[in-house]
Amino acid sequence: MRCQICRGKASVEVRQHHAAFCPNCFVEYFLKQIRRNIQAHKMFSPTEPLLLVVSGGKDSLSLWDALLRLGYNVTALHLDLGIPGYSDRSRETCKSFAAQRGAELRIVSVDEEFGLSIPELARKSRRVPCAVCGRVKRYLFNRYAVEGGFTTVVTGHNLDDEVSALLGNLLHWQTGYLARQHPHLPSTHPKLAKRVKPLYTLTERECLAYALIQRIPFLAEECPHAEGATTILYKEALNHIEEASPGTKLAFMKGFLKHKDLFKAAEEEVKLKECALCGQVTTEDVCAMCRLRERIGARVKISKRG
Ligand code: AMP
Ligand code: FES
Ligand code: ZN
Repeated sequence: MRCQICRGKASVEVRQHHAAFCPNCFVEYFLKQIRRNIQAHKMFSPTEPLLLVVSGGKDSLSLWDALLRLGYNVTALHLDLGIPGYSDRSRETCKSFAAQRGAELRIVSVDEEFGLSIPELARKSRRVPCAVCGRVKRYLFNRYAVEGGFTTVVTGHNLDDEVSALLGNLLHWQTGYLARQHPHLPSTHPKLAKRVKPLYTLTERECLAYALIQRIPFLAEECPHAEGATTILYKEALNHIEEASPGTKLAFMKGFLKHKDLFKAAEEEVKLKECALCGQVTTEDVCAMCRLRERIGARVKISKRG
């Protein structure tokens, strides 16, 4: 197999584009895809202050590396979820990457914010950890971005994450979610940062290849609560289809974005207000996060800065 750019020996095959690259040309290809996604969806400008949220996994750390190389104004935030063992390893992995690259990393702990970790919040609210975790992450990422003067929350969601969410939303005809699924969700309120996903066309395999080539010290372990999640089932099903018909995932994603207007009618007209307790954006008088915290007796941090 020859690299399609330099004709040297290829070591990374990108089946969705019927292409193969040598390590150096693969890095160039990966960076070019990210730059193209940022520009095509007008995600952010080269100087805008970005808050990249990093889990310690290969996707978000590869994106961190790529945004630094491309010269974007990026600060990383890691949220310590307080999951025994796993969270310590995730935090330390982010710290070693930051130290290796001399990059700026901030760490916020769920326990310090709410007085309870994710497993404790889940137990007290009698919900599955992933559901509580998703809500806490969205809330804290946005609050941290707005209070810190960042215009944008950047996440490491890749093509596999996006198509599995898309398949789940279609299987259950979640038209409201379909109307809102997009790699660039603009800000609709001064206290709402825009949210973008520059890796949405790159597969998990491509992110892994990039992380290995760049010698990124990522955590390969999955969150212990992710086991058995339906997204894993959808990813496996899509991998079977992709294996037989390379390029299906990307075509599925791009086709959805092209036909997104089909779901426009499901887009709810919502009136945004500021939560009476924490000041964050909500459609109710008190936001869902503060209601949850009040119900289970967790600490409510009054914060109206920003
Ligand atoms: P996941 O939902 O675990 O697939 O993660 C999707 C994206 O959310 C990752 O690529 C990160 O950008 C971000 N993320 C997940 N967990 C954390 C965390 N503990 N701290 C900061 N960002 C995170
Ligand atoms: Fe949130 Fe697993 S429960 S990452
Ligand atoms: Zn609130």
